[in-house]
Amino acid sequence: MLNSNFPRHVAIIMDGNGRWAKKRAFPRALGHKQGGEAVRRTVQAAETLGLECLTLYAFSSENWKRDESEISDLMNLMRRFIEADLQDMIERKVRLKIIGDYKAFAPDIVDRLEDALERTKGGERTLAVALNYGAQQEIARAARLAAEEGEVTPETMDRHLYTSDLPPLDLLIRTSGEVRLSNFLLWQSAYAEMLFIDVLWPDFGEDHLREACEEFARRERRFGGR
Ligand code: FPP
Repeated sequence: MLNSNFPRHVAIIMDGNGRWAKKRAFPRALGHKQGGEAVRRTVQAAETLGLECLTLYAFSSENWKRDESEISDLMNLMRRFIEADLQDMIERKVRLKIIGDYKAFAPDIVDRLEDALERTKGGERTLAVALNYGAQQEIARAARLAAEEGEVTPETMDRHLYTSDLPPLDLLIRTSGEVRLSNFLLWQSAYAEMLFIDVLWPDFGEDHLREACEEFARRERRFGGR
């Protein structure tokens, strides 16, 4: 690890692809495409900075409300991302993890994702991608599963969240200047530091992630103590 106060687990709400495109009078699809490039840069930066886990909010359970053509653009981006980057992930020892109900996606995407999960399972660092994810749904699901087993406590809930095998969330970043959580990692954010930064997602890169980690390292975390 480069700095002992650095976060182990950073999550990002990647917001602002549409505004990035609009500012340039480009189609929204181009904003998402450039957002995909920012994903590549950020995954690479997470490795450089020594993060154990990077979690990205790629498709929320509410994103189905968008236009059909935009949903299809996002799905195609996902297909291309798996095709183009899977080998690289394997070589870099990145384990893919999916949080959310990804089985609702088209069968070919489900197959590609499951193939990628299988082929990266020996990885040492984790890229967790939230797909068809909603935190309230995740919490309700965990409560149901915990109740079926007996007791509903914070500990039994933790075991049934999608994130049960990930390090605790240290830092949650949202780009684009919006200040809200939009149904992302609500349970896991209980003690996370939060950073809302005024950069549109397609412009995000290594320097932003490094600065965010440095800001995290400067903050004193008390976990409810004094
Ligand atoms: C928010 O911008 C972004 C999304 C809804 C999708 C995030 C997806 C990517 C960055 C694409 C690539 C991801 C992977 C894993 C291949 P917005 O459209 O809400 O922007 P706006 O608020 O400015 O309209």
